[in-house]
Amino acid sequence: MTRIRIVGGFELSGEIEVSGSKNSAVALIPASLLCDEKVEISNVPNISDVDALEEILLHLNVQVERKENSLKIDPSKIINKVIPENLSQKLRASYYFMSALLGKYKHVEMYFPGGCSIGERPIDQTLKGYRALGATVIRKDNRYIIDAPKLKGAKLYLDMPSVGATVNTILASVKAEGVTIIENAAKEPEIVNIATFLNNMGAKIKGAGTNIITITGVSYLHSSFHEVIPDRIEAGTYLIIGSLLGKKLKIKNIIPSHIESLTSKLIEAGVEMTISSDSITVSRKNNYRAINIRTLPYPGFPTDLQQPLIPFLTQCQGISIVEETIYENRFQNISDTNRMGADIIVKDNNLAQVSGITPLYGKNVVATDLRGGASLLICGLIAEGITIIDNINYILRGYDSICEKLTRVGAKIELI
Ligand code: EPU
Repeated sequence: MTRIRIVGGFELSGEIEVSGSKNSAVALIPASLLCDEKVEISNVPNISDVDALEEILLHLNVQVERKENSLKIDPSKIINKVIPENLSQKLRASYYFMSALLGKYKHVEMYFPGGCSIGERPIDQTLKGYRALGATVIRKDNRYIIDAPKLKGAKLYLDMPSVGATVNTILASVKAEGVTIIENAAKEPEIVNIATFLNNMGAKIKGAGTNIITITGVSYLHSSFHEVIPDRIEAGTYLIIGSLLGKKLKIKNIIPSHIESLTSKLIEAGVEMTISSDSITVSRKNNYRAINIRTLPYPGFPTDLQQPLIPFLTQCQGISIVEETIYENRFQNISDTNRMGADIIVKDNNLAQVSGITPLYGKNVVATDLRGGASLLICGLIAEGITIIDNINYILRGYDSICEKLTRVGAKIELI
């Protein structure tokens, strides 16, 4: 079993290049099935979630050529067959295939998607979207069978601005007849990225990045080339690491406006950084002050950076309060963080009170989910002594070459 071993306490300097966004790439790849010609996607991160999507493409008889960070996808010989449960269970984004296949063939059968167990994560809003477009959804054991004589544009109000339901509704409606309007849509940069990708193929999507998205159906989508946006969560993770251990650590390939909710909070805590158009340089300082965080949909503070921020808060003077409003179960990293020396009390599963400053000590810990794993990794980097992390498959799902990137700037971290 592979683990990560970290010797903590080393100063980091040099440059870290942020990879393409996981949550953008995992939507673009299934979306490419809607194209009637070949597509090419660049800046694809080298993570195991992308490996899993590639397996699904091959299963559907789609031709794939993956070289370094480029992915050429030719769906001309695609076969619409059931994706086996073991593949759809590998990740959350497998259900984007469900919407792309429904949009293309008006029929799809699919097992429940997987993903980190950080909450219940129902998909009722996606199914509501399918039904609004005229589809019938039948649930048989742990499989959905979805049929539509034809998909017809409709108006849909999402109960919450769900990223998944917004992407799924776009994918299912892009080739529907007439106009679809999504109200209370998610506004994440990944939504803008997927709308741009489809529009470059000839789709007619307006309003992505706002809470009302309008999709006018088209019948044909032509060949296209598209670049995955930089990963704002990976960028944020390295920025937090730089605040704790950096000596002029430069994080490159960033869109600073995408992580303003984090940078403004770090600045409030006393972090000094130099922000340029596509990079941020940060150095460690002492005397950070406690801050309060509340996770919210974009442009609010991202739930995906809540866990990676916890180690930073242990190094802030005073009591920081973290409120998690998106997921019910996103504090699973706390018990190991406390074992490493932190003083954190979790209340009602949605509130964490972090008292700092506490020194952290290396321990054997277990990643329980992707961002929780990243959080423990940051604890290991600042801890005294050796930290060994188990279950690192979670971390490798979303962070491209994390050990290599950190080693290059001076960290003592390796896969063992
Ligand atoms: N929700 C429902 N019903 C639905 C859809 C969502 O109740 O039909 C609830 C969820 O249970 C959750 C909230 O609404 O409480 C937000 O869920 P959303 O649909 O926005 O999340 P998602 O699409 O499942 C994506 C990312 C997550 C990220 C969230 C929020 C992907 C593949 N995943 O998930 O990323 O946390 O948006 O920004 O894009 C991660 O990268 O670690 C990760 C978990």
